Amino acid sequence: MFSTQNNLIVMKKEKIPYFLKKNKKFKKYSDNFYLTELLGKDSKLISKFYKSAPFPNYQELETLSDLNLKLKENLVLKNLKDSIGFKKKILEVGSGTSQLSIMLAYQTNNQVVAMDATFESLKLGYSFAEKNNLNNCDFLRADIFDDPINESVFDIIWCNGVLHHTKDPEKAFEIISNWLKPGGIIIIGLYNKFGRVRTNIRQIIYKLMGPTLGKTFLNFFDPYLRKEISQEKINAWINDQYSNPIESSHTFDELMTWFKNNNISFLRSIPSADLSNINYSNVLDKRPTGNYFTRLIAQVNMIFSSYGSEGGLFIMFGKKN
Ligand SMILES: C[S@@+](CC[C@H](N)C(=O)[O-])C[C@H]1O[C@@H](n2cnc3c(N)ncnc32)[C@H](O)[C@@H]1O
Repeated sequence: MFSTQNNLIVMKKEKIPYFLKKNKKFKKYSDNFYLTELLGKDSKLISKFYKSAPFPNYQELETLSDLNLKLKENLVLKNLKDSIGFKKKILEVGSGTSQLSIMLAYQTNNQVVAMDATFESLKLGYSFAEKNNLNNCDFLRADIFDDPINESVFDIIWCNGVLHHTKDPEKAFEIISNWLKPGGIIIIGLYNKFGRVRTNIRQIIYKLMGPTLGKTFLNFFDPYLRKEISQEKINAWINDQYSNPIESSHTFDELMTWFKNNNISFLRSIPSADLSNINYSNVLDKRPTGNYFTRLIAQVNMIFSSYGSEGGLFIMFGKKN
């Protein structure tokens, strides 16, 4: 029925899931959880790093309705889910503990794939999905740079907080945008060069103080840690934000260039590239790109707003031509 090569199972053609490249070596952890081999030294490093503190992790006793409530409170995600509709193929790249994938699958007939390099993070999402009988979300442990997915498969690709933890974010973007169908939507979240300044200052102080005193310092000065969150989520946040072995920051214009080079049209950014108020309805509609100066001001403003206090992430939506 199958042959084994280097401990991985090559399934017969009909057993290969629709999204995986033919002849890609993989083994199954369960019916909808596939593991490919991690070959790259950076993906091994990053998966070892997140293994001890899977990100973003779950709250104690969290349920599907808790997650659904959180999604509804987040206007971007709520409108994204409403705009996606039904019968779509959705990929979350670097899904971590996969809450978003689970929410995009919940109460829909969409087929979602949660992909990440860290088995332990996916395992938490997989167990949560299994416990809640959610069966339209597949899990894939894989490295982006291994390029394991077929071209033009997905209607939506969401990749938030991931590419800046790779050694070559531009190359990683090029690879994942190939997995998108023409007319498909890609949404990328990256640390911003300006917006992350407050975190960068805290990183320096944390490193100077060392982990024990540094954690006390962070409890006072990192606004995210003042929220009511589980100890697992606290550990995951401190690990991710202050000790990450691979991290870079980017600008709006840089990501817009990546879009252009990969045949993706700009749809909108959050915060807005033209400084307009964000209209959360019709989140997939095209908005103005602004100009170099409006984009610069939007990014500098991030420092002084909630974007800057929570890690300095910006999001950009694009559509494949
Ligand atoms: C900060 S977490 C983001 C998790 C989730 N997207 C979120 O927003 O909460 C970054 C994730 O990217 C994954 N990652 C980093 N490099 C990767 C690669 N080359 N291939 C696949 N996943 C990768 C890590 O395993 C980690 O779970």
